[in-house]
Amino acid sequence: MKIQLCEVTNETVRAVCALEVRDDQKGYVAANALSIAQAHFEPTAVFRAIHLGEHPIGFVQWRSAETPGTATLWRFMIDRAHQGARHGRAALDLALQHMKSSGFETVETSVVLGPSSPLEFYLAQGFVELGRTTPGGEWLLSRPL
Ligand SMILES: CC(C)(COP(=O)(O)OP(=O)(O)OC[C@H]1O[C@@H](n2cnc3c(N)ncnc32)[C@H](O)[C@@H]1OP(=O)(O)O)[C@@H](O)C(=O)NCCC(=O)NCCS
Repeated sequence: MKIQLCEVTNETVRAVCALEVRDDQKGYVAANALSIAQAHFEPTAVFRAIHLGEHPIGFVQWRSAETPGTATLWRFMIDRAHQGARHGRAALDLALQHMKSSGFETVETSVVLGPSSPLEFYLAQGFVELGRTTPGGEWLLSRPL
């Protein structure tokens, strides 16, 4: 079955908000309901459900960074039941293509460090460490699009 990025609809919003990461990952990404709520107060935010076939299995959200031409990957998760099947990698590729076709040249993100950190996942997808943290203490990463 194919991974696709789909708009969140009245039919899928409950399922998207019910998606969950593993308990040990809960400090690493916000709940999807909070992300969708925040997107409504951030004019440049774009969010999509990650579908496997017809079913939502994840969520991704980005916005413009302060630096022109740079997108910030703000939220990204794959439901605990669907992790480890290379869906995250496929969905990230689609999100990066979307950002590139919207005119962005660079993407940055930030991760919480720790035992369940997605740092290694991002490094394997071409991100590099910037050697500094956000004001909130998250470790910054970036890659060209
Ligand atoms: C990070 C996340 C999206 C990855 O999704 P996934 O579908 O499990 O990842 P994939 O199966 O596509 O993994 C791709 C590769 O990265 C590796 N990988 C995935 N998560 C990893 C992790 N936390 N640490 C190290 N490697 C990891 C996989 O082993 C795989 O390697 P391979 O290609 O050599 O087999 C998922 O683990 C998640 O939702 N984590 C919790 C939320 C989070 O931290 N989000 C990012 C912060 S915004």
